[in-house]
Amino acid sequence: MEEVTYQGLTFVPYIRREEIAKQVHRLAQEIKRDYANENPLFLCVLNGSFIFAADLFRACDLHDAEISFIRFKSYEGMESTGKVKEIMGLNEDIEGRNVLIVEDIIDSGVTAAQLRKELDKHNPKSVKMVSLLFKPDALTVGKAPEYVGFKIPSKFILGYGLDLDGMARNLPDIYVLKES
Ligand code: IMP
Ligand code: MG
Repeated sequence: MEEVTYQGLTFVPYIRREEIAKQVHRLAQEIKRDYANENPLFLCVLNGSFIFAADLFRACDLHDAEISFIRFKSYEGMESTGKVKEIMGLNEDIEGRNVLIVEDIIDSGVTAAQLRKELDKHNPKSVKMVSLLFKPDALTVGKAPEYVGFKIPSKFILGYGLDLDGMARNLPDIYVLKES
């Protein structure tokens, strides 16, 4: 059993890279079908989403797709602070654009709800969201993402872009906190 340790906590494998790749491919097929010839703007929410966004963006293989980045932060340690800090804002003009927000995980939904509100002010043609992971039981505000890779229980996970205070983003598989 390959366990990993961060901050004295033990994590065990939860979703393997092959399974992640399969879901990324499935999401890409759906997005490709829905956004063909729509000149979509993928909006990657940093930091956690960068690995997923890179894999998804390539897998979609859309001739007229663009990607941009925005940075939000809400988590400290293993808990949401309940407040979202915008650290790096939107540079693109999104008026009349089809925006696809790319998230690593939707937990309380606070980040997603705030981002959707912010984007709506700029009159986009459409805003949808794809999230690799979704914790439905943790959702307190907003709605479920339009595209979801995996629905998971409300447990803390890391790897494949997801971190514990900045660490573990480079793990190719996703890990979950080991139950003691
Ligand atoms: P929300 O605003 O509560 O939905 O949280 C969204 C952000 O919190 C995500 O984009 C992640 O960066 C972070 N987050 C939520 N759950 C986890 C987790 O289980 N592991 C690592 N980061 C998480
Ligand atoms: Mg995030």
